[in-house]
Amino acid sequence: MSNDGVNKGRRRFLVAATSVVGAAGAVGAAVPFVGSWFPSARAKAAGAPVRVNVSKVEPGQQLVAEWRGKPMFIVHRTPEILQGLDKLTGDIADPESKASEQPSYVDPKVRSIKPEILVLEGVCTHLGCAPTFRPEVAPADLGKDWIGGYFCACHGSRYDMAGRVYKGQPAPLNLPVPPYKYETDDVIIIGEDQENA
Ligand code: FES
Repeated sequence: MSNDGVNKGRRRFLVAATSVVGAAGAVGAAVPFVGSWFPSARAKAAGAPVRVNVSKVEPGQQLVAEWRGKPMFIVHRTPEILQGLDKLTGDIADPESKASEQPSYVDPKVRSIKPEILVLEGVCTHLGCAPTFRPEVAPADLGKDWIGGYFCACHGSRYDMAGRVYKGQPAPLNLPVPPYKYETDDVIIIGEDQENA
């Protein structure tokens, strides 16, 4: 994955902040502290759902969790970021994600259950690299029109802050939105569908 190197510190934190659903309670009672939060190798291989406390993500920042061996990007979008999505619609290949993967219960426009918290699979739809989170506005390497999003360094695909791919990129589709639901206001479970949606 291309951003392993820069995200090592963050990912260590994330391992501590996530847990496999169903395993944490029983194990946690016997083994307090951080060790209780590590999913077992068997649970990981089976793709067990993971809990993530999204209140830890600062506005404008991203946290990377892992589910089924894939990076999961969780972004706390500010009102400015959300407003920026509207401006891009004409530049986006599949603005309503008609061809792209996302659960029916997420808002089709902002691609999330709560507008401010975005959850994406961090796997480029071209050849599977992990795109880099680039929230800055107009950085020198991405140009003056860049208002934040994801850049895949492997072959240059660009996505916006909803994981929607721009037109004319090597990647054909938006970054997938995985199944997830809110367990509480602050905690999501990735790998379980929202009910009654
Ligand atoms: S894998 Fe991302 S652009 Fe090719």
